Amino acid sequence: MKNFINIKNLYGILDENIRRLSGGEMNTVGSIANAYVKVENGRIIAFGDMGNWIENGAPIIDLKGKSVLPCYADSHTHIIFAEPREHEFELKIQGKTYEEIAAAGGGILNSAAKLGETSEEKLLESATHRVKQVIRMGTGALEIKSGYGLTIDAELKMLRVIQKLYENFAIPIKASFLGAHAIPFIYKTNPKEYIEKVIYPCIEIVAKEELAEYIDIFIEKNYFSIEDAHRILDYSDKFGLKPKLHVNQLSNTGALQLAVDRGALSADHLEEMTQKEIDYLKNKSTIGTLLPSCSFYLKIPYAPARQMIDSGLPIALASDYNPGSTPSGNMNFVISLACIYQNLLPAEAFNAATINGAYAMDLSHELGSISIGKRANFFTSSDLISLSSIPYNFGKTLIDEVYINGERFV
Ligand code: NIG
Ligand code: FE
Repeated sequence: MKNFINIKNLYGILDENIRRLSGGEMNTVGSIANAYVKVENGRIIAFGDMGNWIENGAPIIDLKGKSVLPCYADSHTHIIFAEPREHEFELKIQGKTYEEIAAAGGGILNSAAKLGETSEEKLLESATHRVKQVIRMGTGALEIKSGYGLTIDAELKMLRVIQKLYENFAIPIKASFLGAHAIPFIYKTNPKEYIEKVIYPCIEIVAKEELAEYIDIFIEKNYFSIEDAHRILDYSDKFGLKPKLHVNQLSNTGALQLAVDRGALSADHLEEMTQKEIDYLKNKSTIGTLLPSCSFYLKIPYAPARQMIDSGLPIALASDYNPGSTPSGNMNFVISLACIYQNLLPAEAFNAATINGAYAMDLSHELGSISIGKRANFFTSSDLISLSSIPYNFGKTLIDEVYINGERFV
């Protein structure tokens, strides 16, 4: 056992049975001033007022007035890639849109060409570096997608890298198979053939070798249609892969209804939403996952987070860390953007990035809050005046130490 004592403010306290927060519930973050936390076998076994803490002979970590917050649960990333796409950054500055860059041979297909030539070892090395960076910025659980392979071999290579990361890191890492991320040139005129020759066989191997729990599809004009998505999900349903889908990012394809009807755990992006679609999400198990740093970087609209919460919905926030639309995995910045551009209050953004992010990867029974029995994945900060300090100090990371399962991450 170990004792974390003299915590200035312990934030994120929540009943351990709550799996997600919706609407008005999102504006409350439980906290205790002058607190302690007891950890055993990597889990939180007690917490409370310092006045009630009793010396118990177990090791003490004296936090000397730092605050403690549960780690972020980043439920949408594409953190495995061969190379950054800085050349596209310059094209973007010169006025080219995401679609124009992709049509000119950039975009996802560019990343896939590079990944095909990169060894599994090299991919593991660069992804390991990125995972360490995001943990140091407060992320304590991650979802990672394939989707820069686009051949059977390269997709499996990516998924094996995710599996190695899962084995090597103490944070939970969940995998999504995103073979339907873009249509390779050779299948351009016949996406159905790509689905049959690459996606279906991959699904079978992924299920057999337990390489992913989720299936993702980029449902978008010039990528995969609603019809393609139904076809893929009809197949993956037989193998028990749960959908988590890219929906309404660049245009409204009607995929929100598909995501809900197909029982997706999350519908992600939602930059192009109607009120009717917001209403369609009401009282459904599918959670909307919003990615404001993608909107920031691509200069596309922000998802209507405020309207969604005001309509009583839960929302999750995630980074979308990838080389094309979001070259950052900093969840502190995601929270700033959600507050500044989507008019979320800091407590709402914080809950969206923690407990609701955990829900969006089936992990809210394990983390996402300070609750009895949950993993002791939290970070400390000496600079926090209130919860607003995180979004207010945009671009800074007010984190001193990160603890994963109660162990200091270095
Ligand atoms: O979520 N939209 C599809 N996938 C990524 C971008 C991928 C890329 O450009 O490499 C996203 O934004
Ligand atoms: Fe994405």
